[in-house]
Amino acid sequence: MAKTKLIDSFNREHTNLRISVTDQCNFRCIYCMPEDMQFMEDEKIMTFDEIIHLARIAVNLGISKIRLTGGEPLVRRGIPQLISRLRQLDGLKEISLTTNGIGLIKQAKDLYDAGLRRINVSLDTLNEEKFEQMTRRKVLSRVLAGLKEAQRCGFNPIKLNAVAMQGFTNDEIVDLAKFARENSYQLRFIEFMPLDADDIWGRNMFVSGKEIISKINAIYPLERVQSNGEAKHDAAKRYRFTDGRGDVGIIASVTEPFCDQCNRIRLTADGQLRTCLFALAETDLLTPLRTGASDEMIADLIIEAVRNKEPGHKINSADFVKPKRNMSMIGG
Ligand code: GTP
Ligand code: 5AD
Ligand code: SF4
Repeated sequence: MAKTKLIDSFNREHTNLRISVTDQCNFRCIYCMPEDMQFMEDEKIMTFDEIIHLARIAVNLGISKIRLTGGEPLVRRGIPQLISRLRQLDGLKEISLTTNGIGLIKQAKDLYDAGLRRINVSLDTLNEEKFEQMTRRKVLSRVLAGLKEAQRCGFNPIKLNAVAMQGFTNDEIVDLAKFARENSYQLRFIEFMPLDADDIWGRNMFVSGKEIISKINAIYPLERVQSNGEAKHDAAKRYRFTDGRGDVGIIASVTEPFCDQCNRIRLTADGQLRTCLFALAETDLLTPLRTGASDEMIADLIIEAVRNKEPGHKINSADFVKPKRNMSMIGG
């Protein structure tokens, strides 16, 4: 029997929910948002009570994993308390957080004490100047200190997300692999997706997963790890270092889409349900919640949205249409 009531017309079962807790961010990464971002008005953002309420409905429908995202989730106050509350949801097996890392120096311990164990941290470059160009902020050393602090607190795994850009950070792929191997981080490279705000995405800007693997393999030999069971739904394909010192993941959304295995839905900070990162339509859950809809009515909205989920993204086809929201407004 299916573990979830969230089954789409392609028979994909959805058990993974990404909740964006804010669209605000203290970085301005060039592949994600513009320098002069217009943020959502405060009253449009879900309160913690509303997040818990919608999460409870989703978990009752079969969601077993929740990942908190942003913008940058840690710019919102009280995330440890939100995590403690989410952990009490009966049926939720895993909770994780994706962060730019800058808040970890101060908040890692409180997050750990709240029961969080899994964090993914964006780190595209180890070069201070490039870091500043990429994020428009001069804070690399604080992110690295945050990573150390997270490790000291006991977070495991700590995954690093790197978006490699052609002609810019593509020469750092091996350096990042070395850094991750030496510090026991799980490194994943993500193909740059057309979800930036300044329309810089293009075939000449992005580095394919194949190129990344071949660069690393030339220095640190790699072998493919087959994904079985739950791991079949992971966005990242894993490659292990043949010397046993960890592994590297590749999220090749553009060149090797994994939509046929997709088990994810997303809730934006303003309470809109998105059945795909690239969805052109959304289902408003927050307005019904605020105007007194019953849990059953909201559950039906979620079930119906999933039933109508698109087969996948169309980045590689001529009729690709970029969603109105850029990455920071979706949550990654
Ligand atoms: P775990 O596998 O649980 O560690 O998390 P994750 O890799 O799904 O989460 P993370 O927030 O670290 O995402 C890393 C990158 O993968 C981001 O750029 C995401 O946008 C991308 N990604 C995650 N899920 C999907 C998806 O369903 N489709 C596509 N195309 N990209 C995704
Ligand atoms: N393409 C690929 N990945 C992106 N991210 C942000 N914008 C893009 C993009 N346009 C990544 C960040 C972060 C994750 C949630 O999404 O690096 O680690
Ligand atoms: Fe899922 Fe859409 Fe990502 Fe494909 S592009 S894996 S359908 S979220």
